[in-house]
Amino acid sequence: MDYAVTTDELTKAFGDFTAVDRLSISIERGEVCGFLGPNGAGKTTAIRMLCGLLDPTSGSGMVAGYDLVRETEKIKQHIGYMSQKFSLYDDLSARENLSFYARLYSIPNGERGRRIDEMIDMAGLMGREDELVANLSGGWKQRLALGCAIIARPSIVFLDEPTSGVSPTSRRSFFNIIQGLANQGTTVIVTTHFMDEAERCNRIVFINQGHLLAFDTPERLKAEVIDGYMVELELPGAVYRIEEIEALPYVKECSLHGPLLHVLLEDPSHSAPLREFIGVTPRAVHPTLEDVFIALAKKRRRVSA
Ligand SMILES: Nc1ncnc2c1ncn2[C@@H]1O[C@H](COP(=O)(O)OP(=O)(O)OP(=O)(O)O)[C@@H](O)[C@H]1O
Ligand SMILES: [Mg+2]
Repeated sequence: MDYAVTTDELTKAFGDFTAVDRLSISIERGEVCGFLGPNGAGKTTAIRMLCGLLDPTSGSGMVAGYDLVRETEKIKQHIGYMSQKFSLYDDLSARENLSFYARLYSIPNGERGRRIDEMIDMAGLMGREDELVANLSGGWKQRLALGCAIIARPSIVFLDEPTSGVSPTSRRSFFNIIQGLANQGTTVIVTTHFMDEAERCNRIVFINQGHLLAFDTPERLKAEVIDGYMVELELPGAVYRIEEIEALPYVKECSLHGPLLHVLLEDPSHSAPLREFIGVTPRAVHPTLEDVFIALAKKRRRVSA
């Protein structure tokens, strides 16, 4: 198999705190790979190591065919990186920002103009390319930042929460662009807190407290981790009812999803007794990746307890 990224027990410690703990993954070429996990899970730290921006404490890895410990300069030349706080120059126009990055990546003079136009097109910035970045709204800035990250046509692009703070419409169009890149063979590694985006990734790396909880396709994660029949309850004061519901012998998990409760039953026959107990009718639902994450995090707590 042709891998874009492989890591073996990749670890980063800050003092005696381990932010990424023995991460071993292999990401295929042309894959959209999502990094998911709560705040502080270690996603940005892992991405920065993969980009050659942060030295690992231990472990090893290969990115775009280069050694993650010894060849970080080569890695930086062959990847694109869009950081969580993406860096555009507010006092330059969209075109000037692209031009800056085109020079930074040493794109030859004769090629530069064509690449810049290509990125303006990709970002949907036609007609606004000469506006100052300060005057562009969030979604445009974000697509421009992506343009700056991929103007050198890297084989791998790392996007750290590229869609936080932009509208749902912009998020969807951004993800369409990402999938287009992957279809052309670019490997895309993206962190997100949005479950709808996670659903669109080929595979998901679930991280919690620096540990890899699971690495698989959204479909397989749901099928393998969620073992039972999932129902939803709309209940006043839902958060205060979790404990008593979880104590029922046929309930495997109970967790809060916004204002609703998701309850994992052993099988559909337990829907009726649950209804009698709680006084509202449970609705069958398909498990989400959030359910998967909650189940995985709980399992890990049980194992390490
Ligand atoms: N330079 C640093 N020195 C000390 N601790 C750090 C440093 N960088 C990150 N950390 C800690 O490492 C942990 C992981 O941080 P990281 O930024 O990788 O998380 P994350 O998964 O990207 O979170 P978020 O979803 O909020 O972006 C956090 O507890 C953070 O405080
Ligand atoms: Mg982060």
